[in-house]
Amino acid sequence: MPEYVIFLHPVDGSPRFEADLVDRHCRHLADLAGEGRLIAAGPFQDAQDGGMIAGIFESKDAASSFAAADPFVREGVETAEVRPWLMARPGNGFLGRLPASPGTHPFLLETLRLRATTRRFAAKPIGADLVRALLEAALSAPSEFNLQPWRPIVCNTGPDLLRLQRCCFGQSQIASAGLAVICAVDPAVFHEDAPRAVDELVEHGRWAPGDRENQIAFIRSQYKDVRVSSVLNGAIFGHQLLLAGLSVGLQGFWLGGLDDQLMRGEFGIPERVHVAGVVGLGWPDGLETPLPRRPLEQVVAFGAWNE
Ligand SMILES: Cc1cc2nc3c(=O)[nH]c(=O)nc-3n(C[C@H](O)[C@H](O)[C@H](O)COP(=O)(O)O)c2cc1C
Repeated sequence: MPEYVIFLHPVDGSPRFEADLVDRHCRHLADLAGEGRLIAAGPFQDAQDGGMIAGIFESKDAASSFAAADPFVREGVETAEVRPWLMARPGNGFLGRLPASPGTHPFLLETLRLRATTRRFAAKPIGADLVRALLEAALSAPSEFNLQPWRPIVCNTGPDLLRLQRCCFGQSQIASAGLAVICAVDPAVFHEDAPRAVDELVEHGRWAPGDRENQIAFIRSQYKDVRVSSVLNGAIFGHQLLLAGLSVGLQGFWLGGLDDQLMRGEFGIPERVHVAGVVGLGWPDGLETPLPRRPLEQVVAFGAWNE
């Protein structure tokens, strides 16, 4: 989606900004941020004053409407100048000049620290394109030998969410969410996809070419307890989905309290398949305060186990 910069220019002789006006301006920014469309915003720190908002908008008209609705502009203390912009960033290879790379996000650490399980959401659907983008991000998760044994079942319609809620002891966060995904893993993949995994690992230079049959046998030999591997790989997939949601302003939850047999019957999940849990996401309706965490010194050991 196209990027725009809104320059906010102070109007000569306008009164100083009241705290209430600044709060309303910030809430306007928070609305944009809540949709994952705010890139950066803030006041300039020189004598010229004013500020800027960089964001993602469908069109220049949409950016201009957002600018016109800004309380600073509505109250006449600033005027807005909207300019289309191309953002150079690692993910787009600095506009194609360098290879694309994952890059960094200055707010990711803050977001992780402020995350809190959320169980009540706004009644606003998550669009089909966004659902696809989130699932694709989750499918980029690591898995053992890149076997990608995930077979998630997506619920993003009212009736499907209600069916899922019934399988999770009626936990109400499911029907409130816009999207809930059963993180199912098929352990048959550990055996059946081993040849593909070996071929890809060799082709992409991760493994040296060797005795292919031995390499396949090695992968298969790693799966003595398929339940543990299934839950491990499924949980990593699910958590990547949750983090992908956080990155665009969704909030969410992990849910493990489910009736396994009821869920199998309701969603046709075969006995061999394991369910790591359910991850749900939705647009926030108010924010949860993070629960306290035990201090690092009490839980983390450096170099050796700390009894
Ligand atoms: C594997 C797993 C299963 C969970 N199952 C449930 C559940 O069934 N119902 C629920 O309300 N919360 C569930 N939670 C959420 C936890 O209660 C929550 O993460 C914990 O209280 C910490 O809160 P926080 O996520 O806000 O930091 C689960 C979390 C995890 C990681």
